[in-house]
Amino acid sequence: MCNGMTGVSPKIGLGLIGSGFMGKTHVFGFATAQRVFDFPFKLDFATVCDVDEASAEAARQSFGFRRASADWRSLLKDPEIDIVDITAPNVLHKEMALAAIAAGKHVYCEKPLAPSAAEALEMTEAAEAAGIVTQVGFNYLKNPMFALARDMIASGELGEIRSFRGVHAEDYMADANQPLTWRHDPAGGGGALADLGSHVLATARFLLGPIVSVMGTCKTLIPERPTAAGSRETATVQTEDVAQAFVNFENGATGSVEANWVATGRKMQHDFEVYGSKAAVAFSGERLNELRFYSMDDRAGLQGFRTILAGPDHAPYGDFCVAPGHQLGFNDLKAIEVRDFLNAIAGQGLVGPDFREGYEVQKLVEMLYRSAAENRWISLS
Ligand SMILES: NC(=O)c1ccc[n+]([C@@H]2O[C@H](COP(=O)([O-])OP(=O)(O)OC[C@H]3O[C@@H](n4cnc5c(N)ncnc54)[C@H](O)[C@@H]3O)[C@@H](O)[C@H]2O)c1
Repeated sequence: MCNGMTGVSPKIGLGLIGSGFMGKTHVFGFATAQRVFDFPFKLDFATVCDVDEASAEAARQSFGFRRASADWRSLLKDPEIDIVDITAPNVLHKEMALAAIAAGKHVYCEKPLAPSAAEALEMTEAAEAAGIVTQVGFNYLKNPMFALARDMIASGELGEIRSFRGVHAEDYMADANQPLTWRHDPAGGGGALADLGSHVLATARFLLGPIVSVMGTCKTLIPERPTAAGSRETATVQTEDVAQAFVNFENGATGSVEANWVATGRKMQHDFEVYGSKAAVAFSGERLNELRFYSMDDRAGLQGFRTILAGPDHAPYGDFCVAPGHQLGFNDLKAIEVRDFLNAIAGQGLVGPDFREGYEVQKLVEMLYRSAAENRWISLS
């Protein structure tokens, strides 16, 4: 961390790799976090990197960084950079993270952590040995409604937890004319399961704890896609469009998960339902500020799911807005994720999800692929 002058907050330097969809949300996250939360340092938007100088420079100007670079390795030698933030495609995460860890930088990396569990473990062990702080972008876990659901489950308010249903469905690959992208590259770890299923599995673990066995299926529903936008040339799709699985949790609960990127009409169905012996909770990613709650204690005739609307009672909502019901958005979840990462760097305890959690999720992704390939239950052992 760069020391400032006496009496001035020290600076913490950010180096961002990738200025696409997630690069921009990370910038929103850092920019908002430093205005909404208190940190013992000032954030310095030092360098943004992308594949070439033109895109890096465009990102520098629109994101407000001091420098642009077409060489992500330049971040490693820069003593003004304390954090390497990786929002590049999955296949690059490991090389970038390992180099950043070796250079002593804290690493914030998008999900899935790596294409395989072995690579995710290598990254985790390197980070733990180096004593740096890591964070993985499972941003949905930062929703105050998730914390509320987890607290209700942990406190016994739902009774004995019997089952879980989780889905992450969107339709950005539903059009068969949508060309192949890096998301279809099997070297990147897979298709809808790696891209969206990793989020569902992270949510399942966040709410109910470890998953010990899976029985899954993966299907490619659009077998050929154009190789580029508008091209008549097509190539075979090698990754799945849909993955579904039954899962068993260590705590005895059973469940199901689905990842689907051809779910026509669905834009952000990151949904879960948890059923207990006394009550249930239900959430939909398309209703980001609502948790639905059903209690068997309600009297006959009044039973039904009621909607709890996010407000200052659900920390850290109140840091953003004093009024309930005014709603947090996706970028605010990134700001909460950044808060937890910066607090960990400041030595105020680790909230995560860190690289080890990214590895645990990746193990489940791999178990599900194996289960689908071998058509049988796969256990964690
Ligand atoms: N947490 C979430 O909700 C969420 C949502 C979408 C994507 N993601 C993850 O974020 C990552 C990026 O996804 P995206 O949707 O932003 O992709 P994107 O294609 O929009 O952006 C990727 C960026 O990385 C840049 N890049 C590629 N190779 C590079 C290199 N060698 N050096 C520097 N920059 C390079 C690209 O030019 C592009 O700007 C993926 O790991 C993805 O799984 C997470």
